[in-house]
Amino acid sequence: MEKRIVIRVKDSINNKDTLVSMSKGENLLETLASSKLSIFSECGGRGTCGKCIVKVVEGRLKITLQDKASFSTSELEGGYRLACMAYPDMDCTIILSSRRNTDYKVVTETLNHPTNTEYSKIKETSHPHTLTYEKKAYAIAIDLGTTTIALALTDLPGGNILDKYTAINPQRVYGADVVSRIKASNEGKLNSLALLIREELLKGILKLGEKNQIKIESIDNIVIAGNTTMIHLLMGYPCNTLGTFPFAPYKDGFINLLSDEIFGISEKIPITLIPGISVFVGGDITAGLLACGINREDKPCLFIDLGTNGEIALGNRERILATSTAAGPAFEGGNISCGVGSIPGAICHVSYEEGKLSYKTINEEPAVGLCGTGVVELISELLKEGIIDSSGLLKDSYFDEGYPIAGMKFIQKDIRELQLAKAAIGAGVDILVKSYGISYEEIDKVFIAGGFGYHLDINKAAMIGLIPEALTRKAIAVGNTSLAGAIYLIKDSDTKNKIEHIILTAEEVHLSNVEGFNELFMRYMSF
Ligand code: FES
Repeated sequence: MEKRIVIRVKDSINNKDTLVSMSKGENLLETLASSKLSIFSECGGRGTCGKCIVKVVEGRLKITLQDKASFSTSELEGGYRLACMAYPDMDCTIILSSRRNTDYKVVTETLNHPTNTEYSKIKETSHPHTLTYEKKAYAIAIDLGTTTIALALTDLPGGNILDKYTAINPQRVYGADVVSRIKASNEGKLNSLALLIREELLKGILKLGEKNQIKIESIDNIVIAGNTTMIHLLMGYPCNTLGTFPFAPYKDGFINLLSDEIFGISEKIPITLIPGISVFVGGDITAGLLACGINREDKPCLFIDLGTNGEIALGNRERILATSTAAGPAFEGGNISCGVGSIPGAICHVSYEEGKLSYKTINEEPAVGLCGTGVVELISELLKEGIIDSSGLLKDSYFDEGYPIAGMKFIQKDIRELQLAKAAIGAGVDILVKSYGISYEEIDKVFIAGGFGYHLDINKAAMIGLIPEALTRKAIAVGNTSLAGAIYLIKDSDTKNKIEHIILTAEEVHLSNVEGFNELFMRYMSF
């Protein structure tokens, strides 16, 4: 009989070890992922992001070429390896990287918009833990994001938020972006991906119920908003038409099902999934447009969701143009050499005064890296000081070694990553404005959605050209609009008609088909 290899995974924080068994020839990252052990994996196991770090403290893992590219000689001697490149052939004890992604700060806040009465109705209510609530009805709204998930428990019919649950999307072990997940799904991992997210969502639902003394039978309905790929991976739909021609979803329109169909529970709670405008502009954006009230506005408004896929929409109640840009993960600290997500210790604010650089970290913990807002602010400050020129080049004195911050190095490649991301957004906005046939001045409001946008310093974002200068005074950070839109559907079933109206009036613009896109993109690379 085949002898199984045993990997002891040490959890130094919780002082708890987990034993994982695997066959010889199996991949360590995949084994850790299927054992629900949380580990970074931005590139989906291609050995390029250098984030799936483990430290071998007993036993041995061979050093691979990718290990050599990711670690110094002393780190390699210290046992550091990339889990995605490791195929253990003996029992080992390992420690997962200390950058714990379970501590992510997930934005669930939604700002009230002064001109939008419906938007301002979302209230957070303290929930008295009494059993009288058992007789009442509740609902759960879910924002199913590529990086994080957020659940809001609401009362009914008011839709007031009673409590929230947030977590990392556990599918992240198959890659940080939708392209990696589609690839994993197409390579036979669809069931694992679906199982991972279903388990995490059910955990969130049960935790919210337990914490608030609400039985699952008291939950009347669940509404989920997510991008098209996340919805496919939740439902277990094949993803092979998402990333290649015909770029079509497996199913169009509202998806209605019962909770027992995906959560393996006996209760049959109705679940509604908000439809998207296209494969690239998903239900999270439809929900966002609804939450910002664009479907009721007379004057054109701009909506920008700054994430891995930068989705942009421009329109009013009569006509909406929408697009998606491949902004990449730089806004979430991804593909940045010293980048991290929004975790405690992430540098989130940077300022440069009187020749001195200072920074703030999340929860004021010792710096562990730069999150997206930290990257934007650092570049903005270095531009201001002339340490980066308008083409994005670091001054000669920093070009080879990078710019030092908190014992780390911010290197030339990191600036390029941010330039690519902001050029994608800048060119996308420009094309939508031109296609709509208006000028920037005619845009009435600019809604900046998403967790990254919520903490963004609009002026610094304008300084690097992420937000057009002409629009900075009109910009408002609106937080998690995907969650807000899901709550609207919970509060008012007539919202379904509004969502259908948004989809009917929306038209997708494919940026790559637009003449001159490449030239525009190159122009927006500059600062
Ligand atoms: Fe291993 Fe990216 S290097 S997941």
